[in-house]
This record gives sequence, C-alpha cells and structure tokens, in this order.
Amino acid sequence: MSDVSHNWEEFLKRIADAKSSADVDALDQELFGRKAGVLTVALKEMGTLDPETRKRKAQELNAAKAKLTMALEEKHRTLNEPSGEALRDKDRLDVTLDLPRQEHGHLHLIPEFIREVEDIFGRMGFDVAYGPEVETEEYNFNKLNIPESHPARDAQDTFWVKDAKKTVLRTHTSPVQIRYMQEHKPPFQMICPGRVYRKDADATHSPMFHQWEGLMVGKDISLANMKAVMIAAITELIGKDVEFRFRTGYFPFVEPGLEVDVRWQGDESQSREGRWLEIVGCGMVHPKVLENGGIDPTKWQGFAFGFGVERMLMIRHRIPDLRMFYEGDVRFLRQF
Ligand code: PHE
Repeated sequence: MSDVSHNWEEFLKRIADAKSSADVDALDQELFGRKAGVLTVALKEMGTLDPETRKRKAQELNAAKAKLTMALEEKHRTLNEPSGEALRDKDRLDVTLDLPRQEHGHLHLIPEFIREVEDIFGRMGFDVAYGPEVETEEYNFNKLNIPESHPARDAQDTFWVKDAKKTVLRTHTSPVQIRYMQEHKPPFQMICPGRVYRKDADATHSPMFHQWEGLMVGKDISLANMKAVMIAAITELIGKDVEFRFRTGYFPFVEPGLEVDVRWQGDESQSREGRWLEIVGCGMVHPKVLENGGIDPTKWQGFAFGFGVERMLMIRHRIPDLRMFYEGDVRFLRQF
C-alpha cells in the first residue's frame, strides 16, 4: 500500500464553510465514517507501511484527527447558537409586563397555631415535650388511673393496634404526663402538643385531631395557679373579650376535675354544638398518677390540662366544621 497524502487543510476549510449542521454531519461522515471515512481508511492502512514511514504517518494522522474533530465540534456549536441579533431579542426585558405573582407556600393553620402555643407557654416557663402516638395500654390508660371499666376504653373510642393487643393509638396526650414525670424531677412545667386518635367523626369530632397537654408540678401549685394559666392561654389565643366558663368535670387522672367551655363567637346557627364548645379538660393531678410517674404525692402537687387544638381554632376563626381542617381545600387554607 502506498503512502497517500491527503489535504487536511482542504477539509478544515470545507468545515469552516459549512452552512448547516447537516453539512457538518456529512463532512464528519466523509472523514470518520466507519468503513469509508478518509481518515478511518488512512489509519487502517498504516499497518502496511514500513516502520519509518509509519511513524511519520502516525504523527501526521493523529495531528489531523485532533484538529478535524475539534473543528467539527466547534462548527456544530456555532451553528446551534443564536445569532447576536437573536440573542439581543431574547434578552430584552419588558419591565411593564404584569406577571402572575409568585406563590409562596405557608404552614397549615394547625402547625402554625401549635407554634404560637409553644411560644405563649414558653414565655410562661413551660418546657415542650413529645411522646409516641402509638402508645401502650399501660401509659394511655392504666398509669392514668383509668380502670378497665372506664368508657374511654370502650372499643367505640379507642383504635387498638392489630396484632398487638396491648397497644393503642393514643386517645389523648395525657400519657406524656407519665413519661415526663418519670424522666424529670419536680418542680417543672411542660406542655406536649401532638396528634391523638379516636373513633369519632362529625362536625366537632375527627378520628385524628390535635391536643396539647400541660403539666405543672411543684411544692404548692394550686387550682388558682391552674385557672390563671388557663385564662392566660385562652385570652391570648382567642382574644381578650372571649367568653368562657369553668365547670366541674370528671377525669380519673385528676381530682378535682374541671372543664372549660368557650362561647361560640360566630353566628350561633352555624355552631352545631350549641352556644358553648368544650375546649379543655383540666384539674389537680391525682395522687396515684403522681406516684405512677415516680413522684411522691405527699411532697409534690400540681395541675394538668388537655386543650383541643381544632376546637380552639374553630372558635378563633369561626370555622363551623372541624373536618374543613383536613379537606385540603386551598380556598379554605389560603385564608389563614
Ligand atoms: N385527656 C383529657 C381528654 O383528652 C383531657 C385532660 C387532660 C383532662 C389533663 C384533665 C387533665 O379529654
């Protein structure tokens, strides 16, 4: 085979003159085509040359290959770029154009409210604690002095976890009282916000809802202290002129026990529960409960409470149906 010389400069010129990507592709093929590409063939034929010539030829071909590959790539790039004029058009900004407003997401009103609660109680010196939502029967009921026969245990109310007989979805945040007492030495005060579960569904009940528990234990913490904290929380969270009433209530884990009702603020015909909505259960912690938490009831005493988050929000914003919180309708959510 002879040492054919090629005019690589001629190829470079043709590449530079190409008018379209298709032209460039055709040149690429002509040079590097797998079977008949000029360079491909030349490289293959090197094997037939005598060593001296082969060495010289290899240098020439490799240099040509590098140059041509670069030229092809370069040409492709410039053909794909918009011209200077097109570029200027593209970058032109119309500052008068009325663009749709950028939408920013925000927290759902429940977590937002819980942050507010943590803030208000934080200022009163309350720690924030959390407990498990899948709870043992022991913590959800027994240690809270809720006997086997108590209606709160009724299968109607409690979600029992399948295959785990002694496990429930917590029906209230009160088990966190016990967990907290077992881990802290009094005096202390804490709140615990979170989800709770009950087999209930109507305008004021949902199978999943939110509560925040409170617990304050000290040497001489009294019912008067409890009332002061309840009043501060209700007026700060709903408003100064909100109407509310304390009445006695029964919970096995407090003695005495109280409930607080708040007056529905909106159109009364919109309230499905009547004029008053129960928003909190509270009372002085039962001595047995203190004991179950590892605290000596002859030395310490205190109060506990459990607020319903959704109900507070219903009153604050005059929301007639609790289920609206979970429907995910943006027309509702955007208002808060
Ligand atoms: N755990 C009670 C409930 O869910 C509320 C409560 C908490 C009552 C603490 C008294 C003390 O109804």
